[in-house]
Amino acid sequence: MVTDTLERPDLRALRLREATHSAHEELDQSLMRRRPFLDRDRYGRFVEMQYRFFSAVEPFYRDATLGRLVPDLGARSRLEATARDLADLGLPVPEPMETPADLRGGIGWLYVAEGSTLGAAFLLKAVQKIGLDASFGARHMAPAPGGRGLHWRTFTEAINTAELSEEEDALAVEGAKAAFAHVRDLADTAFASAG
Ligand code: HEM
Repeated sequence: MVTDTLERPDLRALRLREATHSAHEELDQSLMRRRPFLDRDRYGRFVEMQYRFFSAVEPFYRDATLGRLVPDLGARSRLEATARDLADLGLPVPEPMETPADLRGGIGWLYVAEGSTLGAAFLLKAVQKIGLDASFGARHMAPAPGGRGLHWRTFTEAINTAELSEEEDALAVEGAKAAFAHVRDLADTAFASAG
């Protein structure tokens, strides 16, 4: 348990992981039940969900304060790659939605978006079965040039060494929980008519 370690900023990423562990499990299970990699129609719905999520997180990737905490933050955004995946699949870019987030919880939202690149290693293998890969249709799941591990470590080190107040730390946890809840809603919407 790391919940009682608020005084240990170096454990911030671990705290976020612990606080959202069950939300991730539930999301993972609910997504896999929807068989998003069965065919291109279902996968298109998954990419639409991802696009909507990344557009919700985009203001954080563009935020100057967060940009001072995380190296190359803007370059980490996968919104553009996801738009190209939609184009590869012949799908329109969905209308932008309002970010349902408190900008101050941005670290938590970024944690969820950045962490999803770890799971993407597995999802990328699954999507190959329907003829898509990191250069077509699944560009947003491509590993970072230096590798997923380094990319993730750079991020977690940046958030672990950020100087945050206790309130900001609590907001980061709320942000991460809100981000997972938002993805759940987006998944419900994207697959509502999938049968
Ligand atoms: C579709 C089903 C998904 C599966 C099967 C899956 C699987 C995984 C796996 C295996 C890891 C750990 C990888 C490792 O430690 O090397 C992981 C990490 C993570 N995933 Fe997912 N994932 C899925 C969807 C998502 C989505 C949609 C999001 C958020 C938008 C997400 C957010 C995260 C986060 C934040 C982590 C990092 C946890 C940590 O270590 O702190 N995942 N995922």
